[in-house]
Amino acid sequence: MNVVLGVTGCIGAYKAAIILRLLQKSGFQVYPVMTAHAQEFISALTLEKLSGHVVVTDLFQDHNTSIEHISVARAGDLLLVAPATANILAKFAHGIADDFLSTLYVSTTSPTMVAPAMNVEMWRHPATQNNVGILRERGVHIVEPESGYLACGEVGEGRLAEPDLIVREVERVLRAPQTLKGRNVLVTAGPTIEDLDPVRFVSNRSSGKMGYAIAEEAERRGASVVLVSGPTHLPPPARLEFVPVRSAREMAAAVFDRFPAVDVVVMAAAVSDYQPAEFVDQKIKKECQTLQLSLVPTPDILRTLGERKQSQILVGFAAETTSLREYALRKFDEKRLDLIVANNVAGPDAPFGSDSNRVVFLTRDNEEQLPLLSKKEVAGRLWDRIQSLVNLNSR
Ligand code: CTP
Repeated sequence: MNVVLGVTGCIGAYKAAIILRLLQKSGFQVYPVMTAHAQEFISALTLEKLSGHVVVTDLFQDHNTSIEHISVARAGDLLLVAPATANILAKFAHGIADDFLSTLYVSTTSPTMVAPAMNVEMWRHPATQNNVGILRERGVHIVEPESGYLACGEVGEGRLAEPDLIVREVERVLRAPQTLKGRNVLVTAGPTIEDLDPVRFVSNRSSGKMGYAIAEEAERRGASVVLVSGPTHLPPPARLEFVPVRSAREMAAAVFDRFPAVDVVVMAAAVSDYQPAEFVDQKIKKECQTLQLSLVPTPDILRTLGERKQSQILVGFAAETTSLREYALRKFDEKRLDLIVANNVAGPDAPFGSDSNRVVFLTRDNEEQLPLLSKKEVAGRLWDRIQSLVNLNSR
């Protein structure tokens, strides 16, 4: 497979040589493209010798092949820009095609990945964040910069992600086993919010990260994915149907609507178990010494799915603070699940807001304790497990 490696002008440009080498080690052919400013930091000759391909640097480099950008665009299975400056992100976001690399971007139909690198203030600037948001929404893969010591002497986020992480992301995108192709998957994520009055609500500490990772992994494996999400601070993932909801009732309606057409449901959402008995139109005033709230149960979405299920696979989550296995297996039985993912939300590895999670996969006759893993890795293991549980391909 071929990767077109775009290199832009910043101090991290020298790392492009390492990325190029790692991509080759991983079995990719690399076609380098450099902007004029990139060549101030690293020579085209270096990338040419390493890659064994002529490095394209100029839109008008070879007058005989004036549509070079079209042929390079066709040759690549992925356009990777690493490092990507604020300038190239802005050009990509707005379709400005004034040099070879930016023209290549608007000519390519292949997936695109960018690994930004810049000063912390440039990275945080609303213009840059806005451009990254536009690209993400368009489906461009963003390899987030890391936090650390920057070339300008400041400390903060903006440092190019480690070359091996960038290459792993390329592998994730280009070598994903399409094991869920043709499957319809529904994932729920995040908390639900149960309003009490116009300014107050009952909710929980779920960040949504686990559910989003599960939805993205399913999409990567080729599934058609619907992500029904309670309010979170996460950007909606690209390439899937995103259904934002607020309350348990809204989530229930969105899920029930789509349930007949799906093959697998993963209920990773932390659905509020109770909602205020009534919504008070006006802000509740501080008139009494004590205030008693009356709460009533919300619809138990997963239990209803268990009652209605035909051939769908149901996966639930159990967040517990004690007796993890016992409570999780009770839910497994009561909600007629095919698998339950149990985690202890009280221990030192409590998952709320964190990027990692320690979970156990449980069925009535099988138990698999996973080590502390990133939520992305947990998502991968979960889909491996779901696929091994029932051979989806034979359904
Ligand atoms: N769930 C649901 N609807 C609810 C509550 C929970 O669909 N109203 C789902 C969650 O998404 C999760 C599973 O049920 O996949 C277990 O959620 P949890 O809150 O841990 O269990 P509960 O059944 O609510 O039991 P308890 O709160 O007593 O632990």
